[in-house]
Amino acid sequence: MNPGEPKDFPLGRWNLYLGGAGRRVPGYVNLDLFAVPGVDIAADAERLPFPDAIFQRVECDAVLEHVRDPVQVMCEIRRVLAPGGYVHLVTPFCHPFHEYPKDYRRFTLDGLKELAGPLETVAEGWRTGPTATVLVFTLEYVKLLLPFRGWRMIAHGVLGWLLFPFRYLDLFLLRSPQAGRIGNHCYLWVRKNP
Ligand SMILES: C[S@@+](CC[C@H](N)C(=O)[O-])C[C@H]1O[C@@H](n2cnc3c(N)ncnc32)[C@H](O)[C@@H]1O
Repeated sequence: MNPGEPKDFPLGRWNLYLGGAGRRVPGYVNLDLFAVPGVDIAADAERLPFPDAIFQRVECDAVLEHVRDPVQVMCEIRRVLAPGGYVHLVTPFCHPFHEYPKDYRRFTLDGLKELAGPLETVAEGWRTGPTATVLVFTLEYVKLLLPFRGWRMIAHGVLGWLLFPFRYLDLFLLRSPQAGRIGNHCYLWVRKNP
């Protein structure tokens, strides 16, 4: 299946970015649980404060693992999505525990498709692969050995910077059909048929 680029799924007049706290997301209405800089609307993605079929594109990147009820969130996404509109879903598979503000679950590509329900899958794959998995767990493991928060912060910065170039190995590894066995984040582009 075509891996799909964001340019293949054009923005419309109204587009929704879920969970963009602390970020500016030009072209999108930025909704998050918390009213912090960059957020346009503070609300729970389980109850989106928008009319039906208003958004051409919905971006939901690393959010579904943090919501209590992902089925309800997908129902809401489908409701606010315009016919012919696209949703980009990105979720962790092999990834350390991280609370924003909670961390409830992990996803496989099959699980994500099941959750997308009647939306048509137009592209799928791994955004970050096996090397990203090994590196993030290595970093977390080293931090576990350090007793002081300051040391952990330094290790995060220094080791993160030193290890970063290894991520390019994923350009090669992601060609393998086996890469998803220990993939880091998977993605789907799904479409609401007119
Ligand atoms: C891991 S961050 C995603 C960051 C961003 N998408 C990015 O890729 O940089 C998860 C975000 O989802 C938000 N979030 C968690 N539960 C939510 C909910 N029920 N409704 C709306 N936003 C939520 C968190 O506040 C946080 O900003």
